[in-house]
Amino acid sequence: MPSKTNNGVGIQVEDTKICVVMVGLPARGKSYIAQLATFNVGNYRRHDAPQPTADFFDFNNPEGERKRRAAAEAAVADMLAWFRTGGVVGILDATNSTKERRKWVEETCAAHGIEVLFVESKCDDEEVIMANIRDVKLTSPDYRGQDPEAAAQDFRNRISHYEKVYKTINADNDEDHYTYLKLMNVGRQVIINRIQDYLQSRIVYYLMNLHVRPRSVWLSRHGESLYNLSGRIGGDTLLSPRGEMYARKLPELVRESVGDDRPLTVWTSTLKRTIATARFLPPHYNQLQWKALDELDSGVCDGLTYQEIKDRYPEDFAARDEDKYNYRYRGGESYRDVVIRLEPIIMELERSEDILIVTHQAVLRCIYAYFMKKDQAKSPWMNVPLHTLIKLTPRAYGTEEVRYEAHIPAVSTWRGKGSTAKHENPTPESL
Ligand code: F6P
Repeated sequence: MPSKTNNGVGIQVEDTKICVVMVGLPARGKSYIAQLATFNVGNYRRHDAPQPTADFFDFNNPEGERKRRAAAEAAVADMLAWFRTGGVVGILDATNSTKERRKWVEETCAAHGIEVLFVESKCDDEEVIMANIRDVKLTSPDYRGQDPEAAAQDFRNRISHYEKVYKTINADNDEDHYTYLKLMNVGRQVIINRIQDYLQSRIVYYLMNLHVRPRSVWLSRHGESLYNLSGRIGGDTLLSPRGEMYARKLPELVRESVGDDRPLTVWTSTLKRTIATARFLPPHYNQLQWKALDELDSGVCDGLTYQEIKDRYPEDFAARDEDKYNYRYRGGESYRDVVIRLEPIIMELERSEDILIVTHQAVLRCIYAYFMKKDQAKSPWMNVPLHTLIKLTPRAYGTEEVRYEAHIPAVSTWRGKGSTAKHENPTPESL
């Protein structure tokens, strides 16, 4: 198999390495946009200054200036080390609000063969800024345990320090050689400069689809199916009697977790078991079927039990356990293939507001790992139980998760390495 790398968004590339460098004042949604961020300068700065007040960010404060510079250097050094271990898209999340800082980042990356894509979030929409301030004061580690009003005031003071030195990219026409994307008022207007290759254009497309309005994503597997009962994979069977009970209960679970009457958009796969599971949801919920949400295609193994797979294709069975993420069923798919085919789903999810997805074990693992920032390569071993509704709410500093159990028994379809059991209990580390 060619040595391809994957950045987790579903983009495959061979050699390019890109550092996405965020630019912009505080409270402009940078950390939100950079959710996949690996290197947040604020996190490094917190080692030295865990909960600084606004004067720390005064550009006339030499001590603050020194510590912030040291934090940026430490973040960049770690990022470069991470690129050397095979990283493909690194995100440097900081204000990078001066020309000098941008020049330093660009030259440092270029010296290591890394392309730089600046992504600036420029925003003067007071409503968005206020919403971000509220979100940050509720969730940022900088203000943990503090009085919310005092925190908001301090954060506003911090912003005004940055405003004094902030220069939007290419304001003086001397940064035209940079590759950059400028998002004005969360994507209402977009400027794209010198986007050069495939990967950069995919990142730009992805970022243009993001919005920062509050929303949640609900995930559910279909109700228990007849194949689940008999331990068979794939197929297109209908629901078991208990799966049917889950379908009837789902509207109540959804209502409980949404908390009001707002309608959700429901996405299912094209397979009978997800469509049947969604069929009792209120008629004013828009429903859409996506082929891209169909279960991982198990090719020649479709319809077999794990024991039958081991008997007929012992080498394949072992190879899958060895590298479950990359193993591709004969005539079928791998988890990596699924992540790639989910790209349009992820793009559409990022553009959308509240969505309920009713899908399958492998697909749900990949979508869940994306939102929870879990390593995609480990997601194939994750336990995602039947008859459970998962509510995910993306926030600036991570995704909140709430699970609603239907309390309708179902078999476990989780399988540990090497096992051919029809049904087995998941181990604690798979939860
Ligand atoms: O067993 C249910 C199921 O959705 C199968 O259709 C599918 O092949 C399988 O789960 C995927 O899980 P795993 O990758 O653990 O075999």
